[in-house]
Formats: sequence, structure tokens, C-alpha cells
Amino acid sequence: MPKELDLKELGNRLRMVDNHLVTILAQRMELAKQVEEYKREHHESLIRLAVEDQRIESAKALAKTKGLNANFIAAFQYLIMAEACRVEIFQMQDEPELKEQELSPEQLKENLLALTKEIAPLYDQNYGLDFFATRSYLSFEDSVISREIGTLKALGMLDSAIDLGCATGKVSFKLAESFQRVVGYDISPEMIGEARNNLQKAGAPNNIEFKVADIEESIPEESNSVSLVVMSLGTAGDILNLRQALARIKRILKPNGRLILSFYNSSALLYRCWFFPWQVSLAASINQTKHCLDVRLKERVFSIYARPYSVSEIKKLLNQAGFEKPTLSTYPTISAILPNEFFGEESMQNLISDIDHQLAGLESGAYTLAITRKGT
Ligand SMILES: C[S@@+](CC[C@H](N)C(=O)[O-])C[C@H]1O[C@@H](n2cnc3c(N)ncnc32)[C@H](O)[C@@H]1O
Repeated sequence: MPKELDLKELGNRLRMVDNHLVTILAQRMELAKQVEEYKREHHESLIRLAVEDQRIESAKALAKTKGLNANFIAAFQYLIMAEACRVEIFQMQDEPELKEQELSPEQLKENLLALTKEIAPLYDQNYGLDFFATRSYLSFEDSVISREIGTLKALGMLDSAIDLGCATGKVSFKLAESFQRVVGYDISPEMIGEARNNLQKAGAPNNIEFKVADIEESIPEESNSVSLVVMSLGTAGDILNLRQALARIKRILKPNGRLILSFYNSSALLYRCWFFPWQVSLAASINQTKHCLDVRLKERVFSIYARPYSVSEIKKLLNQAGFEKPTLSTYPTISAILPNEFFGEESMQNLISDIDHQLAGLESGAYTLAITRKGT
């Protein structure tokens, strides 16, 4: 028998539904912006009364089948459409010319630098942690990194590790608990500034340092000097010339040294469904319409360069670069397609996480984590 719900539990459920309504409305306004872009490009008028009347009529008809007051739903639908018009007009005024679809590598890098400058001071507060699927992936990635540190410990290879695209240094600090020397590299001076602040807060341990460097240009480490290289949280997909970066990593890794790379997975269930009428519980996901990565931070969305790869593409790249025995797992599958509000209760979080772990071999997760090594 299902137990009787008290007012507190009912209140929690109401809050979940209300939060979901708000995120769905955010999704509705995002679509309105896409409609405005389309209409501008195709010289169509913004307001089409017949289409709008028809939309209200079908909302009323649906309301009746759900036992809702059709007049209430008509008024609600009208409000939504009026707000969508306001959003569209604002966007039209802000962007009189449609932007070029394809940005040059230089422009993309400029975007990344501008965005990381804004994100850096906020990054440590809660980047990703508000979103269940991202939190879940981070914990999966963390356990894989711990396991690889254990393997290198058994081989007596805990001398030197580097964290490429380190941001504010979360992974670097974890590596520094085990390695004698850790260097975190990032292209963003602001991210490195925050990482250095964190270093001071941690009492300035002398086995860790942070440096500004563009991985596309160089990785300033000696040949055959590093036992572990990590690129976490999708960072491998942020690199334009990944082949060249892999050649550089191969040069600096010691024989038997490990490489952990994280990618966005182009075959994820998330990207196989063409559209979800809700916001999924990931802090960042590939925008398949604009071919970029949409990063959500607080109430803002930043679009930057990132390329998703399939598991077979990653295997081929690693093979061509001369890395051995790659193992790849993708994660998470189901949580990555559900709305964040769905995870209000711990029992639901545990249930979906269990399913996601079982699906890790199916190549359907939002991220792919590849572990490989340089031969002896
Ligand atoms: C998704 S964040 C990952 C941050 C960090 N690894 C983590 O787990 O929190 C990607 C980071 O890679 C950095 N990045 C992107 N392209 C880079 C490049 N070409 N060279 C160095 N860093 C880069 C960005 O500035 C950003 O801080």
C-alpha cells in the first residue's frame, strides 16, 4: 500500500512541480529566440495572429481532456505567448544582423577567454553541482582518477602529474595528495588566478603549481617526464587540434605513463533524441542546432567551442597517436536526459544512478572517459 503523504511531503512535491514549470518556461523562451532568429533570416513577420489563435484553441482542447479550466489555460497560454514576443523583440533589437554561423578559430578562442574570465570567480562556488547528472558524472570521473592513481602507485610512478585545462585546480589538488609534483595548465589567466588563490588558501603546498598555457601551442614539460596526464570534464573535446595535443602528450609521458581524457559523447542517448521539451540535468551540453557547447552557470548560458566524439572516433584518434590499450566508458545515460527537478528525492537519485552505472558500457552516456597509456 502506498503510504499516506503528509503536508510536508506534499509541499515538497508541489515545489518540484513548480520548479519544473519554471524551467519549462525557460525552455519555451529559448525556443522563442530560435523562432525569432529563423523569422529574421527568412524575412517573416514576428506576429502571426492566426497561428497564435490556433495555438490557444489547441491548448484549450487539451485542457478539457485533463479536467482543467479551459479559460485558465487559454489565459496562461496567452501570457506565455506575450512574454515570448517580448523576448523575441529584445533579441531582435540586440542583434540587428544575424551572426555568421561559422566562427574562426581565433574568434572561438576569444569567446572562450571572455567566458572563462566571467566564470572564473564563480566556478568554485557550485559549478555543475546544482545539476544532478553533472554531479553524478564528476563523482564517476573522480572514482576513475582514484583508481588510476592506485595503478600508478603499484608501479611506483607517483612522481609527476599534469592537469590540462585545470580551471581553478580541483583535479590538480586531488592529484597533489598522491604525486610529488603536480602542474595545472589552463589557457585562462583568470582561472589560473583563482587556482593560485586556492593554493594560498591550502597553505601553499610546494608540490603543486599553476601555469597559464595554451595546450594548442605547447605543453611546456620535458620529454618522458610525466606519469599521469588528465583532461577532465569534457576538456578533450574543447581542444581544436586534438591530434597535435595528443602528439605533445605522448612526448611528455613516461613509458607506461597514463592518460585520462574526458569527451562529450556524440552518440549519447541525450543527442539521439532530437528534442526534449525540458532542460536536462547537465550543467553543459552540446547545442545540436548551433554546434557549440552551452554552459549553464547560475541564470546564464554561455556558448563556446566544443566537439563531441563517438567512442569509435576516440579509439581511432588514440590508436593513430600511438597510445595502447584504451578503455572507454560513457556516463551518465538516463540522468542526463531527465529534468533536474526529477532528482528532488534521494531514493530517486540512487535508483537512477544504479541504472546509469549498469549502462556505462553501452556507449549511451553524455560523457566518454578514455584511459590509455604510452607503451613501454
Ligand atoms: C570544462 S573546463 C574543465 C575544468 C577542470 N578540468 C574541471 O574538471 O573542473 C575546461 C577548461 O579547459 C580550459 N581550456 C580550454 N581550451 C584550452 C586550451 N587550448 N589550452 C589550455 N586550457 C584550455 C578552459 O579555460 C577551462 O578552464
